[in-house]
Amino acid sequence: MVLNNYKCAILKVKLSAQTHERQTRFAHRWYWWPGVGCAPTVLAQDPATVTIPYRNPKDVERLKSIFSPSELARIQFLAANLNNEAEVENLINQMVQVDVLIHLVGGFSMGKTYEYSLENWKRDFDINLNTTFLVCKHSLKRMLQQGYGRIVTVGSRGAVEPVGELAAYCASKAGVVAFTKAIADETKGTNITANVVLPSVIDTPANRASMGTENAHQWVKPESIAQVICFLASEAAKDIRGAAIPVYGNI
Ligand SMILES: NC(=O)c1ccc[n+]([C@@H]2O[C@H](COP(=O)([O-])OP(=O)(O)OC[C@H]3O[C@@H](n4cnc5c(N)ncnc54)[C@H](OP(=O)(O)O)[C@@H]3O)[C@@H](O)[C@H]2O)c1
Repeated sequence: MVLNNYKCAILKVKLSAQTHERQTRFAHRWYWWPGVGCAPTVLAQDPATVTIPYRNPKDVERLKSIFSPSELARIQFLAANLNNEAEVENLINQMVQVDVLIHLVGGFSMGKTYEYSLENWKRDFDINLNTTFLVCKHSLKRMLQQGYGRIVTVGSRGAVEPVGELAAYCASKAGVVAFTKAIADETKGTNITANVVLPSVIDTPANRASMGTENAHQWVKPESIAQVICFLASEAAKDIRGAAIPVYGNI
């Protein structure tokens, strides 16, 4: 399956493809990633249903024009601000099952720390860490009831190799790594796992627009990250807990 230009976010998936019970997957946000990315990869590899939260109805319209009718039949779009606990809870309540959570929401702004506003600092923590807390908290509740779950969060290389003028981003992504490892520890002895992937620069239209294309061949491709995420969501990864996996491409 080759799909171009889709917006991607979080996916939840059912892992027991052998069972015939209804499967519902939980997808948070979808990034705008070119090529074969996370959502198409998940849809191709697993017969589950994907739930995609959105804030802007225009994103849904765009996605509807990208996926095939058979793929759309497996996707439910639900409006939710993932910084709002009541909305996250309501979103989860509308899902039949929450087997896999892939939380892709994130963002940053740049600036020197001595002039960085508290408002921007809080915004970075809201989008990166607080959304992660809320979606993990409420997904985990369901996973513990079900006795099964896979959680994959998205950090950043900056979480483990912090760089200047991105202090809030690096600190909040480091929080995502620590938080994910804490969940992994908390769920030892269960059939629930939690791991985090650490992309470097992703080959996105936004990065090509802001940084040019000269070095784009070295950047990690969205579909490559998607493959790692799908592996972590699979049965084959049932014994991987609390891993922070670098997905750096060639940089
Ligand atoms: N791009 C890179 O080079 C790179 C490198 C390392 C790590 N990462 C990480 O990889 C992930 C994807 O990056 P990206 O560049 O593809 O991101 P992106 O295109 O900026 O997408 C972020 C998505 O998050 C959504 N979002 C933000 N706040 C939300 C909220 N409160 N509730 C629901 N949705 C919300 C945005 O929706 P709206 O459109 O409605 O705002 C947007 O669709 C992020 O976690 C990022 O930190 C990216």
